[in-house]
Amino acid sequence: MATTEMAAKGGFVLRRLSPALGAEVEGLDLSRPLPAGVFEALRAALQEHHVVCVRGQSLTEAQQIAFSELFGPLEAFPEKDKTRSQSTIYNVANVSPEGRHLPVDDHRVIAQKVNARWHTDSSYRFIPAYCSLLYGIEVLPPEAEGGQTEFANLFLAHDALAPEMRRRLEPLFMVHYYEFGRRIFPQLPPVSQVERDFVPPTCHPLIRVHPDRDGRRSLFFTVNAGNEVSGMELEEGQRLLRELAAHVERPEFCYRHQWRAGDLLIWDNRCLLHRAIEYDAARHRRVMRRTTVAGSGPVLGPFSRA
Ligand SMILES: [Fe+2]
Repeated sequence: MATTEMAAKGGFVLRRLSPALGAEVEGLDLSRPLPAGVFEALRAALQEHHVVCVRGQSLTEAQQIAFSELFGPLEAFPEKDKTRSQSTIYNVANVSPEGRHLPVDDHRVIAQKVNARWHTDSSYRFIPAYCSLLYGIEVLPPEAEGGQTEFANLFLAHDALAPEMRRRLEPLFMVHYYEFGRRIFPQLPPVSQVERDFVPPTCHPLIRVHPDRDGRRSLFFTVNAGNEVSGMELEEGQRLLRELAAHVERPEFCYRHQWRAGDLLIWDNRCLLHRAIEYDAARHRRVMRRTTVAGSGPVLGPFSRA
């Protein structure tokens, strides 16, 4: 059954947001238990469109966690300055938990600039995230510049590569590590030993094979959690990653989400890159709350099952 038919049966409306990816949903209240079949329709929509924006929500932390857990177990964040009341809730805000608009040189604000680079959440984990759920509490006014979240579809980006480039990428792995953000912004406090032990550097294939999509292939890389390609000279690997980053930016692969307060944006980290578009953080408050659903296994590449 097509996801639009499933949505109609579940009593909600599903509309595409762009040719590349994304659908928006209206007519659902996620703060309450969902009628039978609705969650399955949402999960199918996520599988098909990669981003699902459920409009007009009003969610407490507990309600967001309860809905997120329908997708699977949540990731916990060891860094205490990222989280609020519990380790599965990640504050994406330039406002303190007490509601104070933070100065632009506060390290919690600087740390978020790492997310202005193309990335996929938790790529620095051995098992990266399945999906993220970001709830817009305070968003920028529509006339303000920036503050959107932009996505790139890595299936489309992969399929548009020249065959020789795909062959070149096939055997390669990128090195991902949490500490890379400190190289970009050395003014941030050093990564603690707890964090270092929790997420040691890891490698993932640059071509990801998706077993739940009949082995379909996508690109898989980031520019915020490393710049090294395993087995390549540093500069050659950096050149290759820069080339891939320029490639995924083509407008036909991308969708830029303009936030409305009450949006719950759900995205599939396994097949997308995303980035936060920079905004005037001294002028505008931006408060979002993220929960993240853990992946179910390591990233598979073309030779993982050879
Ligand atoms: Fe992110």
